[in-house]
Amino acid sequence: LLHHRYSSHLALLVLLAANGVYLGNAQVPFPGKCPDVKVMDSFDVEAYMGIWYEYSKYPFAFEIGKKCIYANYSIIDNSTISVVNAAINRFTGLPTNVTGKAKVIAPAQLAVAFYPSQQLTKANYQVLGTDYESYAVVYSCTSVTPLANFKIVWILTRERQPSAKTIEDAKNILEDNNITQAFLIDTIQTKCPQLGGNGTEFANEDDLDLDDFVTTAVPNAIEKA
Ligand SMILES: *[C@@H]1O[C@H](CO)[C@@H](O)[C@H](O)[C@H]1NC(C)=O
Ligand SMILES: *[C@@H]1O[C@H](CO)[C@@H](O)[C@H](O)[C@H]1NC(C)=O
Ligand SMILES: *[C@@H]1O[C@H](CO)[C@@H](O)[C@H](O)[C@H]1NC(C)=O
Ligand SMILES: *[C@@H]1O[C@H](CO)[C@@H](O)[C@H](O)[C@H]1NC(C)=O
Ligand SMILES: *[C@@H]1O[C@H](CO)[C@@H](O)[C@H](O)[C@H]1NC(C)=O
Repeated sequence: LLHHRYSSHLALLVLLAANGVYLGNAQVPFPGKCPDVKVMDSFDVEAYMGIWYEYSKYPFAFEIGKKCIYANYSIIDNSTISVVNAAINRFTGLPTNVTGKAKVIAPAQLAVAFYPSQQLTKANYQVLGTDYESYAVVYSCTSVTPLANFKIVWILTRERQPSAKTIEDAKNILEDNNITQAFLIDTIQTKCPQLGGNGTEFANEDDLDLDDFVTTAVPNAIEKA
C-alpha cells in the first residue's frame, strides 16, 4: 500500500518528473485525466484505524513478490496518522515492512508519505467507501499529463478471508464509480503469520512454503486483463 521504496520503473520516473509526486511504483496507465470519483463525504478517522488486510489491488511492479500484505493505521496526534505496511516476501518467506505518515486533508482524503521529504499536501489516498468493520475501497489517481493518468485501487478487508458479501459490497463501490475491476489482482492471504492482539506476529509452521505465483497469479491476471 503506497510504499514501494525500491522500484525504479520508467513509469515512476515519468510520474516523478511530471508531478513531483512519488507513489513509487509502476501503476496501471489510463488515457486522459483522472476521472471524477465520489469519495465519502463524511469520514470517521478513528473508526478507520487499525489493521486492514489487502484483499486485492491494481498491480504494482513492487508488490509482485509480496503476500500477506496488511496495513496498520494508528493515530499519532490529531493531525497525524502512523502507517505501517507489512508483508511477507514470497520468495524468502521473511517479513518486511515500511512505515510512513498520513494526514487527513479533507474528509476521506488522505495524504500518505513514506519519506521525510514528501509533503503531506496532496490527497493520494481517497476512501471511496468503507463500513469501517469489513471493507474499504481506496483509490489513488495521478494525472501525469492531460493525456494520461495512473490509478491504484485497493480493496482492503478487516479479515484475511472476507465473506463473499463483503467483497460484493466493496465491488459495488467500484461499480458506482465506473472503476474497472479488470486490473484487480487478489493478494495472497493464505499461509500467513497470525497477528497477535499485542501486535506480535507468530509464524505458522508452513510459512516458508513458497507459493505458486507463476502457476496461479499470473494466469489469473492475464485472464482478468
Ligand atoms: C489537537 O487537539 C488539541 C486539543 O484537542 C488542540 O489544542 C490542538 O490545537 C490540536 N492540534 C492540531 C494540530 O489540530
Ligand atoms: C518492521 O521491521 C522491523 C525490522 O526491519 C521490525 O523490527 C519490526 O518489528 C517490524 N514491524 C512490524 C509491525 O512488522
Ligand atoms: C458512472 O457512469 C454513469 C453512466 O455513464 C454516470 O451516470 C455516472 O455519473 C458515473 N459515475 C461517476 C461517479 O462518475
Ligand atoms: C503476544 O501475543 C502472543 C499470542 O497472542 C503471545 O504468544 C506472546 O507471548 C505475546 N507477547 C507479549 C510480549 O506479550
Ligand atoms: C498496530 O499499531 C498499533 C499502534 O501502534 C499497535 O499497538 C499494534 O500492536 C499494531 N498491530 C500490529 C499487528 O502490528
